[in-house]
Amino acid sequence: MQLKPFGQTNLTVTPLGLGLAALGRPGYINLGHAKDLNHSYDVTAMEAHAHTVLDAAWDAGIRYFDAARSYGRAEAFLASWLQSRHIDPTSVTVGSKWGYTYTADWQITVPAGQKHEVKDHTLPVLQRQWQESQKLLGNQLNLYQIHSATLDSGVLDDTAVLTHLAHLRNTGTVIGLSLSGTGQADTLWRALEIEFDGQLLFGSVQATWNILEQSATAVLTAAHEAGLGVIVKEALANGRLTTRNQAPDFQPQMHTLTHLAQQHHTTVDALALTAVLHQPFVDVVLSGAAQTDHLLSNVAALQVEWQPELAEILLGMGEETAVYWQTRSNLPWN
Ligand SMILES: NC(=O)c1ccc[n+]([C@@H]2O[C@H](COP(=O)([O-])OP(=O)(O)OC[C@H]3O[C@@H](n4cnc5c(N)ncnc54)[C@H](OP(=O)(O)O)[C@@H]3O)[C@@H](O)[C@H]2O)c1
Repeated sequence: MQLKPFGQTNLTVTPLGLGLAALGRPGYINLGHAKDLNHSYDVTAMEAHAHTVLDAAWDAGIRYFDAARSYGRAEAFLASWLQSRHIDPTSVTVGSKWGYTYTADWQITVPAGQKHEVKDHTLPVLQRQWQESQKLLGNQLNLYQIHSATLDSGVLDDTAVLTHLAHLRNTGTVIGLSLSGTGQADTLWRALEIEFDGQLLFGSVQATWNILEQSATAVLTAAHEAGLGVIVKEALANGRLTTRNQAPDFQPQMHTLTHLAQQHHTTVDALALTAVLHQPFVDVVLSGAAQTDHLLSNVAALQVEWQPELAEILLGMGEETAVYWQTRSNLPWN
């Protein structure tokens, strides 16, 4: 896989990256997560499983890895993998995130009224989580992102937080933000206005973009043109763009996708990822695979030939933004 510059940062990335949200903890919101882990939640077994998938990603050429403080032990599993494989810090790019604290206590579901992760975008959380991330990843950590920044969380107006992020940027860490929900575009437009010392604070953005949810296209294009590195997450709509999606109301689209995949000698997931890989504003597309065979099926996206007729059909499958995010929020933790 070809290494390329990550926006105008000093980092390099590969077109596909691996996200560790499904590998670092027993519970996650995507289709079929419980089955992926074979219902085996022993910490040592989960660490070994994460290392197996990371090995497969490395062998496939993937050199960008995405974690977060709230992904259970994802940072720790990534750190132990990097160490045990003697991976030179300069040969990979590692991003993590702060702003959510993992509170699921290694459970798949949590009691009513409790949460899997608690959001808090204030300075004390940034300072605490930065120390925690540093302790695990040290100089391997290249990119630190606000986890799911929104306008209403106030984080983009919090001078104390922004000043601290500028300090981290000035000491060598690329600062980014990830986005979620119907307000992705508005949040990023606001983030693109924030400067410190005559320079944009944010060097990268991680957003949801896939053939069903394309509402951030214009702002991601602007971010890319402004020099930000652009990471796309949820490129498979959390598994909805894979053959495991049996939802009756999605079967007409699945029929089209399956037919096209056959025509192009590929898989449905690879086809959906190809559409993202070919957007001009995209630097890295995350695979969220928790199984090696799924990861390899995702990597096959790099072989699919992108043709105008294919683009027209795939990009014509967009859903209304509000409907997309409502469907997303109905996915259960499993
Ligand atoms: N706000 C944020 O910052 C934020 C939010 C969400 C995600 N992320 C990042 O983005 C990454 C990717 O997100 P995601 O995992 O939610 O989204 P995704 O890539 O859209 O979906 C991943 C799902 O697709 C399934 N899948 C992939 N290939 C498959 C195949 N060939 N057959 C069947 N199923 C297949 C995976 O199954 P298996 O697990 O069985 O392989 C998993 O359930 C995360 O790991 C995380 O790093 C960030």
